[in-house]
Amino acid sequence: MLNIVLFGPPGAGKGTQSKLIVEKYTLIHLSTGDLLRSEIAAGTALGAEAKLLMDAGRLVPDEVVVGMIRNKLNANPGAGGFIFDGFPRTGEQAASLDDLLNELNAPITTMISMDVPERELIDRLLSRGKDSGRADDQNEEVIKDRLDVYQKQTAVLKNYYDKQGKMQEINGLGTVDEVFTRITNAIEKAA
Ligand code: AP5
Repeated sequence: MLNIVLFGPPGAGKGTQSKLIVEKYTLIHLSTGDLLRSEIAAGTALGAEAKLLMDAGRLVPDEVVVGMIRNKLNANPGAGGFIFDGFPRTGEQAASLDDLLNELNAPITTMISMDVPERELIDRLLSRGKDSGRADDQNEEVIKDRLDVYQKQTAVLKNYYDKQGKMQEINGLGTVDEVFTRITNAIEKAA
């Protein structure tokens, strides 16, 4: 099984690259952001609670996102592997993911961290905010809060995966194709 954590700050290109990786390696794409936005669109109680936090650029509680990932893993028993996009985001989530994958005897293959300068991230998200309908992309202060949350709560996971010998850092600047080539090189190295 090929299990990849695609990692990086908001706007690094995780969603964009996940779509290409899924096509090339026939994996299942699990984005906690997309799963939460589906809950919002479906008008569920979970979605309503999550929306308040997401619009403010804060993290949704660990047990909520871990529960969503657990359900998806259980719902796809024959999968060739998964790409985790926007998950894990805290130490608690990373440890839970390791536990869930150990139960399946299919640990994380590699964690690929996309490095993009902050000004570029802000510009990408503001630009998408013009027509994405995402409230969290439309206000520079909220974008800065999301980047702050990433630095304070999520970036530490690079050490977590580095200690496991699984962390690979790539340059996330350049065209989508250029970044994709760097990612596929990293995947081939780890697989
Ligand atoms: P989530 O949906 O995960 O969003 P995010 O990580 O904040 O940011 P994006 O997903 O939008 O960035 P991305 O890296 O995928 O970049 P993308 O490819 O889209 O999370 C949203 C919220 O949900 C969180 O704030 C939190 O509240 C909650 N949440 C989600 N997961 C959670 C978790 N695990 N725990 C707790 N809470 C959670 O690209 C961005 C833009 O850049 C696009 O317009 C794209 O076209 C453009 N672009 C992409 N690549 C390039 C390139 N090479 N050059 C130029 N532009 C590019």
